Amino acid sequence: MYVCMYVCMYILCVCIYLYIHIKETKPCSLILNVQSVVKPSGLHLKLALKLQDFGKAMFKPMRQERHEETPENFFYFVDFQRHNAEIAAFHLDRVLDFRRVPPVTGRFINVTGEILYLTHNEELRSVFFTSPANNTCFFAKCLYVCKSEYAVCGHPDLLEGSMSAYLPGLSIAPRISIPNPWIRTYSFTGTEEWEVNPLYCDNVKKLYPYNSGNRLLNIIDMVIFDFLTGNMDRHHYEVFTKFGDDGFLLHLDNARGFGRPSHDEVSILAPLTQCCMIKRSTLFRLKLLAQSEYRLSDVMRASLSRDPLTPVLTEDHLQALDRRLGQVLRTVGKCVKKLGEPQVVITDFIKSYNCDSYNYEIVTIMR
Ligand SMILES: *[C@@H]1O[C@H](CO)[C@@H](O)[C@H](O)[C@H]1NC(C)=O
Ligand SMILES: *[C@@H]1O[C@H](CO)[C@@H](O)[C@H](O)[C@H]1NC(C)=O
Repeated sequence: MYVCMYVCMYILCVCIYLYIHIKETKPCSLILNVQSVVKPSGLHLKLALKLQDFGKAMFKPMRQERHEETPENFFYFVDFQRHNAEIAAFHLDRVLDFRRVPPVTGRFINVTGEILYLTHNEELRSVFFTSPANNTCFFAKCLYVCKSEYAVCGHPDLLEGSMSAYLPGLSIAPRISIPNPWIRTYSFTGTEEWEVNPLYCDNVKKLYPYNSGNRLLNIIDMVIFDFLTGNMDRHHYEVFTKFGDDGFLLHLDNARGFGRPSHDEVSILAPLTQCCMIKRSTLFRLKLLAQSEYRLSDVMRASLSRDPLTPVLTEDHLQALDRRLGQVLRTVGKCVKKLGEPQVVITDFIKSYNCDSYNYEIVTIMR
C-alpha cells in the first residue's frame, strides 16, 4: 500500500510516497504517515495511524513525565503537548457528561517491531536510529535543520503515547473552526480586550451567533472544562455545520492541559465570570461532583484506572480538579448573589429567535 509521509517545516510540507507492508494480524499497528507539526516552540512529532479497518488515529508520544510540572515562566504556547492530558481530558469530558471529545486511549507502540520492521521503505527506515542508550528512536525528516532532541525514542522499543480517534471525514461530517471570542494573544507582550474590559461579554452578546444564547452557554461549558484541566490553548473551537448554531462545540486538542497542578489559571474562566451564565444541566452535574459520594477526583481516578496507561494522572492533578471545581461553583454563587438565579442559571436550550440563523455562511472549512 502506498501512503504519504508528510515532511514539514514551518508552513512547507512535502509528501513522500512510501510503500508500507500491512501485517495481517496486528489490529492496531500501522504507521501510515509520519507527520510533524511545527509550533513556535519547535517540533511536536505526532504519528497519523491508519488501522486495518481503515479507521484513523493520531498517536502523540509521551514527552513529559507525569510528575513534571510546566515551569512557571513558560508561555502556554510553548508548553509541551502531553499525551496523558489528552487521555485524562477525554475521561473528564465524559464524567462531566459533555461527550464532546473524540475517544482517546493510552497505548504502548513497539517502535522497532511495529514500525521499523514493518516498513520496507528506505525513506521511512532512514528516520530511525539507535540512541547511545540503545533505544530505538526516530525523527521527522526536516528540510532545513534537524535536531535530534526533537526525536522520540522507545524504551528500548516501547513508546508510550495517546491514541486519539479521528472524527469522520469532512465530506461526511463537515465542521468549521471559529476563533474563540476570548482568544489569547500569541505574542509575549500583547493584551486582548477581554483581559482589560470587565464588560467585554456585553459586546460579545450583541454579536451573531452569540446573541441567541446557546452558543455562549456552550462556550461557558467549554471554559469550565478548560479551567478544570488548566488548558489555555483554546484559540479556536470547532462545530459540526449540520447542527447549525445550536450544535455543541467540539472539545478537540487537550494536550496542553494538566501542566501545573499547583496553579489555577482563573483567566480561563473569564467568559463565566464576565457573562455570569451557565446551563442548568452543567451546574447540576458540577454540584453532584462536588459531593463527597461522587467527588470529581474519585470518579476520575476510577474512570482512568481502566486506561492501559493507568495511572494517567498524579494525585496532585486529581486533587487540583476538586479545588478548581470548588472555584467554579463559587464563581457561579457570586453571580447568583449579584443577579439572581433566573438570570444566571439558564435552561439548556434557548430557542433561537433569529429564524435565519441556520443559513449560516461557512467561512472556513477545516482541512
Ligand atoms: C518489540 O519488537 C522487537 C522486534 O520485533 C522485539 O524483539 C521486542 O521483544 C519487542 N518488545 C516488546 C516489549 O514487545
Ligand atoms: C548498546 O549495545 C551495544 C552493542 O550491543 C553494547 O556494546 C553497548 O554497551 C550498549 N550500550 C548501553 C548503554 O547499554
